[in-house]
Amino acid sequence: MSPGKFITFEGGEGAGKSTQAKYLADYLEQQGFKVILTREPGGSPGAELIRNLLVTGGADKWSAEAELLLMYAARADHWQKRIHPALDQGYWVVCDRFADSSVAYQGYGRGLDLDFLNLLYKKTVGDRNPDRTYVFDIAPHKGLGRAAHRFIDGNKNEDRFESFDLSFHERVHQGFLTIAQQNQGRCLMVDANQSIQQIQDLIRQDICSYL
Ligand code: TMP
Repeated sequence: MSPGKFITFEGGEGAGKSTQAKYLADYLEQQGFKVILTREPGGSPGAELIRNLLVTGGADKWSAEAELLLMYAARADHWQKRIHPALDQGYWVVCDRFADSSVAYQGYGRGLDLDFLNLLYKKTVGDRNPDRTYVFDIAPHKGLGRAAHRFIDGNKNEDRFESFDLSFHERVHQGFLTIAQQNQGRCLMVDANQSIQQIQDLIRQDICSYL
């Protein structure tokens, strides 16, 4: 096993995980660790190009299968060029979304075969799993409401997944709950209704068991 630690943040739209991923990366750096904060889809130059294809445009821009394969094309590049070398060099890699998002969105949300997703994981990432995963839990209608503000206030047009209907996001939510339930050793559920400070404290306390 590579010496670095691999920490992922997962959950539906508007759960606040990107903010918390940044706080955790800052905290770990303050503790003197070498840290990389990254994200998916994206995180390497090639994967960022693919991200742009995936997160812009209308919901039916891609078939479910094409969408999954693009996610995995991006992940394969990100893993080989950035995450894996960093873990080998002893970095803590904090990643805003990873393969659990494919299981929740393309598996549970879009109904693709979970065995096919597992095969893609094995062929691109191998047998390395995240060491710790924070799964942010928020009711989809609430998260989508928060995410909408991000687009109104911000400068982004990365709203393709938000434009899927509520029943899609309910299935994604159910998918994340199932993933957390089935991987209790790795995943910690985070109630995203708490304040930013409360969530930050919870994650810091939890990560201390790894320091
Ligand atoms: P972000 O808004 O959290 O950066 O993520 C972009 C979108 O990509 C988000 O709506 C979830 C989606 N996504 C998938 O559908 N499958 C995946 O494997 C990943 C990593 C993200």
